[in-house]
Amino acid sequence: MASAPTEPPAKDAPLHVAIVMDGNGRWAKRRGLPRKLGHPKGVEAIRRVVEAAPDLGVRWLTLYAFSTENWGRPAGEVAEVMRLLKHYVNSDLEKLTREGVKVRILGRREGLPPDVAEIVERAETRTAHNDKFFLQVAFNYGGRADIVDAARALVAEALAGKIDVNAITDAAFEARLSTGGLPSPDLVVRTSGEQRLSNFLLWESAYSEFVFPDVLWPDFTPDHLQSAIDEFHRRERRYGAVADDVLAAG
Ligand code: IPE
Ligand code: IPE
Ligand code: MG
Repeated sequence: MASAPTEPPAKDAPLHVAIVMDGNGRWAKRRGLPRKLGHPKGVEAIRRVVEAAPDLGVRWLTLYAFSTENWGRPAGEVAEVMRLLKHYVNSDLEKLTREGVKVRILGRREGLPPDVAEIVERAETRTAHNDKFFLQVAFNYGGRADIVDAARALVAEALAGKIDVNAITDAAFEARLSTGGLPSPDLVVRTSGEQRLSNFLLWESAYSEFVFPDVLWPDFTPDHLQSAIDEFHRRERRYGAVADDVLAAG
């Protein structure tokens, strides 16, 4: 059975932009610094982008901060990324709350150190009632792990008789992903020159547009985001259908 076609959003609709924030290690190495010193610079870029995004027509911003595969990095670097997440929440949560930002952390909670899990919980609870801007941080996130978790949830519900197998649709599956309830990303940006997903939003990016700015994440500015969005607006999204002008020409 074919899936129902995705309804294209209106041209001026608020955007969901998802970013693979890549290149922190190279940024540091180019300066002769240890890799891990690139990550605090990456946090500064996060602040700039979160601040600028609402004025650029973005309503949902999803940032890939730590993947399920990133646990394989040296322990000191992993510890630095954990420390920075805690530091970011501790220093910025009140401002985000005041500005109406709803924070959500995507990915597996199991496996996070208890102090990190606690702070993630706090950020979500504190901002739960906000609805001006939606900031998702993918942390201990992997697209495959997320799909496996959704499949497990559905199987458990089916075995318990809570859902009929025939009721397992695209929408039912999507609702059980850690991104459940979010619109699909319109635009996926990856910095640093790499052109791959690295296990980010595998399901959700089915019809996203991709832009790969040649800049390391710590050097990313609101102007780079604006350029990526301009590029996005020049694209024609077809969702497997036929463009309007082609249809009109018969
Ligand atoms: C992205 O930058 C940040 C994380 C994955 C935590 P990298 O640390 O991957 O930087 P490069 O790709 O090695 O330069
Ligand atoms: C993807 O970048 C993960 C994040 C940016 C958090 P990586 O640097 O881990 O990806 P690969 O190893 O280049 O594919
Ligand atoms: Mg990288």
